[in-house]
Amino acid sequence: MRLPNESDKLMANLFIRRPVNEPSDHGLKRVLGPLSLTMLGVGAIIGTGIFVLTGTAAAGSSGHLGAGPAIVISFVITGIACGLAALCYAEFASMVPASGSAYTYAYTSFGEIVAWIIGWDLILEYAVGNIAVAIGWSGYFDNLLRYFGIHFPPWLLIDPMSANLWLKGGANVTPEQVQMATDAFATAPNLGFPILFNLPAMLIVLLITVLLIYGVKESANVNTGLVFLKLGLIAMFLFVGFRYVDFDTNWANFAPHGFAGISTGAALIFFAYIGFDAVSTTAEEAKNPQRDLPIGMLASLLICTVLYIAVSAVLTGMVPLESLNNAKPVAAALEAVGEHNVATIISLGAVLSITSVLVVMQMAQTRIFYVMSRDGLLPKVLSHIDPRFGTPVFCTVLTGLLVAIPAGLIDIGAAAELTNIGTLFAFVLVAGGILVLRKIQPGAERKFRIRFVWIVAPGCILICGYLMISLPLLTWVRFGSWMAIGLLVYFIYSVRHSVLQNANQ
Ligand code: ALA
Repeated sequence: MRLPNESDKLMANLFIRRPVNEPSDHGLKRVLGPLSLTMLGVGAIIGTGIFVLTGTAAAGSSGHLGAGPAIVISFVITGIACGLAALCYAEFASMVPASGSAYTYAYTSFGEIVAWIIGWDLILEYAVGNIAVAIGWSGYFDNLLRYFGIHFPPWLLIDPMSANLWLKGGANVTPEQVQMATDAFATAPNLGFPILFNLPAMLIVLLITVLLIYGVKESANVNTGLVFLKLGLIAMFLFVGFRYVDFDTNWANFAPHGFAGISTGAALIFFAYIGFDAVSTTAEEAKNPQRDLPIGMLASLLICTVLYIAVSAVLTGMVPLESLNNAKPVAAALEAVGEHNVATIISLGAVLSITSVLVVMQMAQTRIFYVMSRDGLLPKVLSHIDPRFGTPVFCTVLTGLLVAIPAGLIDIGAAAELTNIGTLFAFVLVAGGILVLRKIQPGAERKFRIRFVWIVAPGCILICGYLMISLPLLTWVRFGSWMAIGLLVYFIYSVRHSVLQNANQ
C-alpha cells in the first residue's frame, strides 16, 4: 500500500466537502415564511430586466443583434432554462438548509475549491448584477423627475463608458443617445479629464445599504409592499397596452435576425429572471427552509415567467421596435401611444419595483460574503454580526461601496452581460452538483426530489451552456479574468484560513 504524499493531501484538502445536514444556527433571526420567501423571489426577479433590457434585447443595441418581437420566444427559452435550474436549486435547498445558496451546495457536492469558484462567481450575479439594476433604476428615476420638471445635469446621469460608446455612434445608437453624450461632455467639470458619473445609481445603492443594516425583517416587509405594487403596475400596463396592440403591423417582421437574434436576446434577457435563486441565500433566516425555500423559488419563477411573456408580447405589439431602444422602454411605449398619465404612473412604479430588486440582491450578496467568511475563506470581519442590529454591518457597508462606486461608472450592458455569464455558470454547477449528490449520497434525505433528474439536470446544463456561448467574446474575457483573480485569492488567502481544512489537519 502507498502512503499518502503531500500532493495527495493537497488534493484531498482542495476537494474537502461539508456535510450535507450540518446544523446551521449562527445568530441570524428566523423570520421568513413561504409567502415572504415567494415575495422575496418576485421582489428580486421583476426589475431592470423587464423594465429596461427587454427594449434593447428586442430592438438591438451597439454590438447586439435584436430579437425583434420574437423576444417573446427568447423569454420562453430562458424561462425553461430557469425552470430547470430552479428545480435543481429546490432539491439542494431541501437537502442543505444552510445559507449561501449555490456556494454551499457546491461545498457539499464538489468540495471546497469548486465552492470557492462558485462563491467568487456569485459576486458577478449579485454585486455586479446590482450594478446593472441600479443603473436601470436611475434611467426611470430621471424619467420620473422630468415629468415634474426636474432635470439633473447631464454629466450626473451618464457613466463614462456609455458616453464614449454613444459619442462614437454606429448601428443601433439612437440620435437621443448621441445628444445625451454630447451634452454630458459639454457640461462636465474638467479636472484634466471630464467628470461624468451616474449619481442616482450610486445614491440608491447607498440608501439600500442603510436599510439592510437596519434589519432583515424590516427589509422583507418593505419588499412585500413593493412587490404588490409591482404586480399591480404590470397588470395595469397589460390592461392599458393591450388596447393598442397591432400585431399585423408591429409583428410583421417577427424575427428580423432569425434564431441568432432570438438566442442573443435570450442570453441578454436572462437577466430579467435572475433573482429566484436569491431566495436560497436566506436559508438561515427562513422558518422552515426545507419546505419553504422550494416553494418560494418555484412559485416566484412561475409568476414572473407568465408575466414576462405577456409583457413582452404587449410591448412589441404596441409600438414599432425603434421606440424600444432606450433606457425606459415601457414608459416610452406608453408615451408613444399617447398614454402620458399611465406612463408617469409606470415610471414611478418602476422606480419602486426596481428598488425591491436592489434590496434582495444586495442582501443576497452580503449573505454570501457572510457565509464564505464564516467558513474562513474570506476574512472573519465579514461575518461579524452586530449585536444591536442582528445583521452583518461591516459586510453590508463593504458590499454597498463595492456596488455603489462602479454603478456610477460603468455601462449597463457590460454589467448585465457579466452578471448573466456568472449566473449561468452557477446554474450549470448547481445542476451538476445535483447529479453528483445523487451518485455519492443516494440515501440522503431530500424533502424535495426532482423527478426525471437525469433529464432535468443535463437539460439545464445544456440550455444554460448554450446561452453562455451566445454571449459576446468580450464578456467571456472579463469572466475569465475575474475567475483567474478569484483563484489567486483562494491560493494566497483562503486555502490557509479554511475552517474545514484546519479542522481536518
Ligand atoms: N431580475 C432582476 C432584474 O431584472 C435582476 O432587475
